[in-house]
Amino acid sequence: MPRQKNETATQTTPEVVEPQESNVTVEVAGITTSTDNTEDTEKQSKSRKPRVTIPKQEIIIVMDCGRSRIKAMPIINGVAYSSIVLDSIVCEVSSPPFGEMGAFSMSREKVEVEGKLKDKVEHWVVGRSAKLQGTEWVAMSDDDDNKVRYFPILALGAIASLPNLYQYSTGANEKNRALTIRLVTLSLANPLTLKKAINQCKWMQVDGVKYRLSFSKGALNYPEGYGAALHGQGNKLERPTLFTFDVGYGTACVSEYSNLGLYPKRIAHEPNGGGGVSQLIKEFAKAVANTDSSRVIKPSQLREVLETATIQDGKVSAIAPDGRDIGQALETAIKNWIKDSPLTFALESLGTSARRHPVVLCGGGFAIKPAHHLIKEQMLRQGIPKEHLIETSDPGMIALSELKRLYVTELNTEQNTEHQEEQTNAQQEQAA
Ligand SMILES: Nc1ncnc2c1ncn2[C@@H]1O[C@H](COP(=O)(O)OP(=O)(O)OP(=O)(O)O)[C@@H](O)[C@H]1O
Ligand SMILES: [Mg+2]
Repeated sequence: MPRQKNETATQTTPEVVEPQESNVTVEVAGITTSTDNTEDTEKQSKSRKPRVTIPKQEIIIVMDCGRSRIKAMPIINGVAYSSIVLDSIVCEVSSPPFGEMGAFSMSREKVEVEGKLKDKVEHWVVGRSAKLQGTEWVAMSDDDDNKVRYFPILALGAIASLPNLYQYSTGANEKNRALTIRLVTLSLANPLTLKKAINQCKWMQVDGVKYRLSFSKGALNYPEGYGAALHGQGNKLERPTLFTFDVGYGTACVSEYSNLGLYPKRIAHEPNGGGGVSQLIKEFAKAVANTDSSRVIKPSQLREVLETATIQDGKVSAIAPDGRDIGQALETAIKNWIKDSPLTFALESLGTSARRHPVVLCGGGFAIKPAHHLIKEQMLRQGIPKEHLIETSDPGMIALSELKRLYVTELNTEQNTEHQEEQTNAQQEQAA
């Protein structure tokens, strides 16, 4: 169980010793009232120091650092806690802001100061709050390499944002804790590059508490939409092959999986860069400008407009910041996106393969209701049988949340549900 905030190993002042391989060992200083400390009594009190062992607690953090959103799910002792989602935006600041979501200090290199090697400390804010810092921020969608370049910052930002971070840590000192993390990433990037970058981060500080970081050797990297493939395993016996179709912010990935073994294995992959929601936003801006160029809507506002758009009886409705319904422009934009962008290549390739094999529809693009409806209509027009389209209630999170199947123990299912409810309530309160 996670240790409570006011729970210490003993009543006396403890001194935390560097963690051993399996556990964190704490030396408890023997405190005496004696004033005349002779060499003998010093030796005695040193030899009397009891060793208290605090069991090391490993958190598994499943993480998908996407171009538009970072998604992370903590799993502890086989229990999955509810996931957090942050915008993929980072900002370096000169001092650590307190009480700000995604804010932390960290060190990943040493510098020489007056002849001594000292930690070079960096301060970062990750997520929407990065835009509040009054200094330049970087979005992962700004450049193709950003997702990899900023991976350690995104990962630490997600860790700093976990609602119960303190309870996941161990240690006898309230301000000096240890975090043992097994990172499970979902990424197209080279796992060794990601691993090397994160291993350089030796500690992080969140709201005045310093966490010594150790990343377990058991870190794994799965293909980006792996959870969706796990979800699609249902009809395993009949289907030796299955596809995932992940419409994200930048890409519209089509991946082919073999479904013969215990777990799916990726065979082929087409990223179709430029086929994601960012392209839809461009088409949307163009369509809005063509209907009424006098009222400009910013791309960030357009993104919100399309995320909340609806479709009823085939009619698209999208409410602009000034209250206008610009559903017609959104419908035109989605149709253009389907017909004339790298999304078209993805649909063409599925036109043949998904006629024979099932395909799981995933990625945030499918959480945009009119986009989901119109892409699905197009797939059916291409002759893909309806029963081959595997849909989910939360397509934006499925690639991450289904990884639970690999790490959550059956025994904990009931407890898991309880914990999840607890967490969800806590999060709702926070949001309120
Ligand atoms: N629940 C939701 N409701 C409406 N729209 C959503 C939802 N979730 C995501 N989206 C939209 O889908 C887009 C893509 O989301 P997703 O999380 O799949 O992208 P990503 O993983 O960050 O990008 P990439 O996979 O290209 O790196 C988001 O930018 C957002 O506009
Ligand atoms: Mg993605």
